[in-house]
Order: sequence, then structure tokens, then C-alpha cells
Amino acid sequence: MDSPWYILVGAVSAVLLFGWWHDPINKIPTVGPSAPLLSYIGAYRFFRNARDMLQEGYVKYKDSTFKVALFDRWLVVVSGRTLVEELRRLPDDQVSFEKGAEESLKTQYTLGRETSEDPFHVEVIKEKLTRNLGNILPDVMDEIQHAFNEYIPAEGDGWVKVHAISTMADIVARASNRVFVGLPYCRNSKYLKLATNFTIDVMKGGVILNLTPSFLRSFVARHFVPTTRTNMLTSEIITPLIEERRRLQQEHGINWIDKPNDMLMWLMDEAEGNDTRIRNLIKMLLGINFAAIHTSSNSVTHALFHLAAQPEYMQPLREEVETIIAKEGWTKAALMKMWKLDSFMKESQRFNGIVSTSLTRIALRDLQLSDGTLVPAGALITAAASPTHNDDEYYPNAAEFDPFRFSKLREDGEGTKHQYVATSVDYIAFGHGKHACPGRFFAANELKAMLAYVVLNYDVKFEREGVRPENKWIAMSIVPDPTAHVLFRKRQQ
Ligand code: HEM
Ligand SMILES: *[C@@H]1O[C@H](CO)[C@@H](O)[C@H](O)[C@H]1NC(C)=O
Ligand SMILES: *[C@@H]1O[C@H](CO)[C@@H](O)[C@H](O)[C@H]1NC(C)=O
Repeated sequence: MDSPWYILVGAVSAVLLFGWWHDPINKIPTVGPSAPLLSYIGAYRFFRNARDMLQEGYVKYKDSTFKVALFDRWLVVVSGRTLVEELRRLPDDQVSFEKGAEESLKTQYTLGRETSEDPFHVEVIKEKLTRNLGNILPDVMDEIQHAFNEYIPAEGDGWVKVHAISTMADIVARASNRVFVGLPYCRNSKYLKLATNFTIDVMKGGVILNLTPSFLRSFVARHFVPTTRTNMLTSEIITPLIEERRRLQQEHGINWIDKPNDMLMWLMDEAEGNDTRIRNLIKMLLGINFAAIHTSSNSVTHALFHLAAQPEYMQPLREEVETIIAKEGWTKAALMKMWKLDSFMKESQRFNGIVSTSLTRIALRDLQLSDGTLVPAGALITAAASPTHNDDEYYPNAAEFDPFRFSKLREDGEGTKHQYVATSVDYIAFGHGKHACPGRFFAANELKAMLAYVVLNYDVKFEREGVRPENKWIAMSIVPDPTAHVLFRKRQQ
């Protein structure tokens, strides 16, 4: 009976319990079980059913703070306008966006440390991509048209069955990479596959590594997370392009007349010949594809599903798009005038969203929130996005998909605050504040152009007419049914 095991187990439990008892995070109320070990059951429940747990927490603790278990830590969730505002205002020396991403996605093993240590792409997206939207839109439109013709050819009056989520990802990847790397690389199927797969690699890697105890992570990452290989294969394709451009730059200097106007070139300019930065360009390019492709394609698929389930929304959209295009052509200004289209995308993102939480950060020091909660240093903190977006207080009849909700508000004179790209304390689908998605202006243009292309050129429906397939919740992600097909045919009238 005097087996040393008993003593060891006893001692370890005592240490664990003592630590647990004294951890200030235990003062924050929990949704799901909170005792050590039992919290794994809560973590499993959250992985499968974040929707109900976040909703439960929101209803009980709105305007204050609760926590849910993840497999390797607690997730502290704030809700209500005051606390969301507080969270978004916390400066970078108190909370870290990069560390938050690192914890959720284990970025040091998946995306690589380099992009989070020297994130110069964020400036490039803000300063170059967003400012060039008007100039690049014709290319994006051209690529959208090419890609739709290739992936969803429609002739005569027959319906074609299209696997929605992957086809939208293919089209988004093409259109986005027209701007990221230009022709002909944006049509290089091997590169596109790598860039599109990469997101899945990272997400899978994040999930696997979050389930892996930390001491095994680098082993598991080496053997079961394919991002290193993707990096290498992408490098084989893109590095010759980078070298060619460096050569031309040296040759022509400021007199380089047909210097490309794309993301890769802007990144190279920003790198200013810094060899470390140049070496990291492939990782950065993949990182940008990671941030851009599946966010955008899931978002536009959510919208497409509403359109296919309720084709009566076609007519008002067609009228709007046709009237404006007839007057202005396909310009950025024209897209800005398409309020109904803009509202459709925004409402779809409110109603579905692509992540149920937003503004995820790591506390770098103890934080005292105005509701009295003490969030200890090292805690992962986030805002309850989905429950906020489904709150009747902010969105009357929130449970109803009302595609023209926001365009009606704009007609009532409330102006730009209801635009798709506008963020606020109760619209956090793109985040809010300093780290709000810098790519959203580009995404909004691209996705509106895609949806406009669909309504002008196709009829769409589901096989089971009128039924929108259920979204799938995987941990914090909300994915349009990944098995669903949409029927497309050439527009008949
Ligand atoms: C509909 C499409 C998109 C959605 C819903 C979306 C959503 C988001 C969200 C929620 C965040 C985090 C904000 C926060 O925590 O405060 C974010 C960050 C970011 N997004 Fe997007 N995004 C989209 C498209 C894009 C595109 C097309 C790009 C690139 C061209 C992009 C680049 C980024 C980057 C670089 C960050 C990190 C910002 C930082 O480090 O401060 N996103 N996005
Ligand atoms: C992309 O992913 C699919 C499925 O995971 C795989 O079959 C394919 O080989 C991958 N392609 C590339 C180029 O990595
Ligand atoms: C080059 O970039 C790296 C980070 O990517 C940075 O640490 C280094 O200081 C830079 N070198 C110069 C000369 O600016």
C-alpha cells in the first residue's frame, strides 16, 4: 500500500488543485464544467457546439465576462458594447493580437514566426492595396469573369451542379492572386492549389497542435503539419519571379516603365532590399493568402446560399446592379453605389459570420475591466461576436435574414455607418479598432463584384428548392455546409 505512486499522484493533485484554487481566472464565471480535468469535457463541448455555449454565456453575462474551456487553456469572453469598446481600445503593450493568433493557430509552427515578428504586410495592405482599389478593379473584374467561365460554364438552359465552397474558393483565389502576384501566376494551377490548400493546412495544424501537449508540438508539427512542404513548393514557383523582378529593378531603377502594380511588388518595395525580408516573402505571400482566401470565399458562399435558397432576392439585386453599371460601368464608385448588394453581403456576414468570436488577444499584464473582472496576464481574451450579431437589441428581428436591412437604414439617412466595411462595437465580423481587418476594403469590392457577376449572368437554386443547408460550427469557425452543391444555369431572362 505504500506504493510511491499514491504519493506522487497525491502530490501532483495537490499542486494542481492549489494552483487552480489560487488562479484569479477562477473568479470568472464559467459556461460548462470548470473543475480541473472536467474542463476537458467543456472543451470538447465547445469544440462541437460553441454556438450554444457562447449564447448561454451571453444571455447570462451580457455586459460582463465569462469563460469557456479550450483544450489547453481558458478563453475569456467579454460581451456588450462597453466591454467590446474597452477591449478594442486596449493598447498593444497590454494585449497582443499576434500572440492571440499564435495561441489559436499555433502560428510559430504553421504560418511561421517571421510574419508575426515583422508584419510589414499589414502596412502594405493598408497603404498600397486599399489605395489602389480603383486602379486594380478592372483586373479583378477581368479575372472574376475568366474564372467563372472556367469553373462554372453555363450554356443553353441546363442546370449545372457546382460544389459551392470549393468553387468559390477557386474563384476567390484566382481573383485575389491576380492582385497578389499578377498574370500569369494567378492562373498557375499548381500555385493556386498550394495557396488555397495552405489555409486548410494551417487550420488543421492549429486544431491538431491545440490538442497536442506543448512538449510534443514540434514533433507533431514536423510530421503531421504540411505547411513547411507547402512553403518549399511555393518557393519553387514564386522565387524565380522574385529574382526576375529584382534583376529588372536593378537594371531599370526608377525608370522601370511597366513595373508591376501588385502585392508582391509592393512587398518587395517595402522590403527595400533587406535580405531577411526578401527571404520571408514566400511565407508572407502565403500568410496573406491565408488571411484572404477562405475568409472571403466562406463569406461569399454564405451569401450565395441565401440567394440560392431564396431566388426572389435576385430581381432587386439585378435591377440595382444593371441600373448603376449602365450609367457608370464597372468602377469602384459604381460598386460603392450598390447599396442593396452591399447590404446583402453585410447582412449575410452578420447572420452567419465566419468566426463566432472576434478581437482575440492575449493579456500581456493583469487587466482590470470596468465590470470588475480581473483578467490575469497570459489569459486569452475575446469578444462574443455571434451572440452580439444576433442580439435583438442591436438588430430588431435579429433571427431573421433581412438582406436589405442595412440599405433600408441607409435610405433612412444613416449614411456610411451601415456600409459592409464599417465596423462598430456591435458589428465585429471584421474586428474593430486598430487591428480591424485591413483587407476588408479589398474583400468587399471583390465579393460584391463576384455576387454582382452571379446575379447578372446566372440563375441559381438548390436541388431541394428553398432550403438553405445548415452552417457547420467547428470550434470558433462557422462554415457554410461544406458538402452543399448549388445549381447554376445561364440566366434565362
Ligand atoms: C470577408 C473576408 C474577410 C473577413 C471576414 C476577415 C476578417 C478578419 C478578422 C475578424 C480579423 C481580426 C480582427 C481583430 O481581431 O481585431 C482580420 C484580420 C486580418 N485580415 Fe481579414 N478578413 C477578410 C478578408 C481579408 C483579406 C482579403 C485580406 C488580405 C488582403 C485580409 C487580411 C487580414 C490581415 C493581414 C489581418 C491581421 C491584421 C493585423 O495584424 O492587425 N483579410 N480579418
Ligand atoms: C491539396 O489538398 C488536397 C486534399 O487535402 C490534396 O489531395 C492535394 O494533393 C493538395 N495539393 C497540393 C498542391 O498540395
Ligand atoms: C531587416 O529585417 C529584419 C526583420 O525582418 C530586421 O530584424 C532587420 O533589422 C532589418 N535590417 C535592416 C538593415 O533594416
